[in-house]
Amino acid sequence: MITLSPSLLSANFANLNADINTLEEAGIDELHLDIMDGHFVDNITFGPALVASLRPLTDMHFDAHLMVTNPEKLFSSLANAGTGNITVHAETVPHLYHTLEKIKKMGLSAGVALNPATDFRNLIYPALDDLIDRILVMSVEPGFGGQKFLPMSLYKIDAIKHWRANNNLNFTIQVDGGINADNINTVIQAGADNIVMGSAVFRQRKIAANICNIKNIIKQEN
Ligand code: DX5
Ligand code: ZN
Repeated sequence: MITLSPSLLSANFANLNADINTLEEAGIDELHLDIMDGHFVDNITFGPALVASLRPLTDMHFDAHLMVTNPEKLFSSLANAGTGNITVHAETVPHLYHTLEKIKKMGLSAGVALNPATDFRNLIYPALDDLIDRILVMSVEPGFGGQKFLPMSLYKIDAIKHWRANNNLNFTIQVDGGINADNINTVIQAGADNIVMGSAVFRQRKIAANICNIKNIIKQEN
């Protein structure tokens, strides 16, 4: 079962309440929250305070994608803000095993995001110990929405899928960046379980129609 995780990054920041309601009414049950610090990536978005203020507005699962240096500093405030999943970038943490243990001990789902040039194979040890619920394959360099999908990501997704099967691992594969109605099925066929979409969901502000169209495209070919 493929799930969609629309990114709040492309929403109308002046009226998030309305966009969140529209997503939920369109049957979306997970919201992707791109938290950027202007240091690990060039862009700055929002932090735990905003996440906490969104929490009472919706029942959607909150999926936090931390594009920040020192992500551990945000863990407790994000947990208190009602985040269900925390994904850290492998490039930002020197002691990844311990970082993942911290997320799991808080009772949250844990993810590891990989920049386009980062290999997945050294995730084997935390994955064998069931510390990784989700691997986030970045199919663009992180920092901004609306970038072009990097085609080599398909090779990487497929390689992770086979590596998961060969080692009996349990995580899901999430893919983020440049996915739209034209390429979503190739991403799914390569092995994605969860698709993050920003600009394609909010395109021309026709949020409900875009989601309906994307869901139909997925259904037709899978
Ligand atoms: C990029 C973010 C993405 C972004 C995706 O750094 O992690 O989640 O919002 O946006 P699109 O779908 O527009 O590439
Ligand atoms: Zn993201």
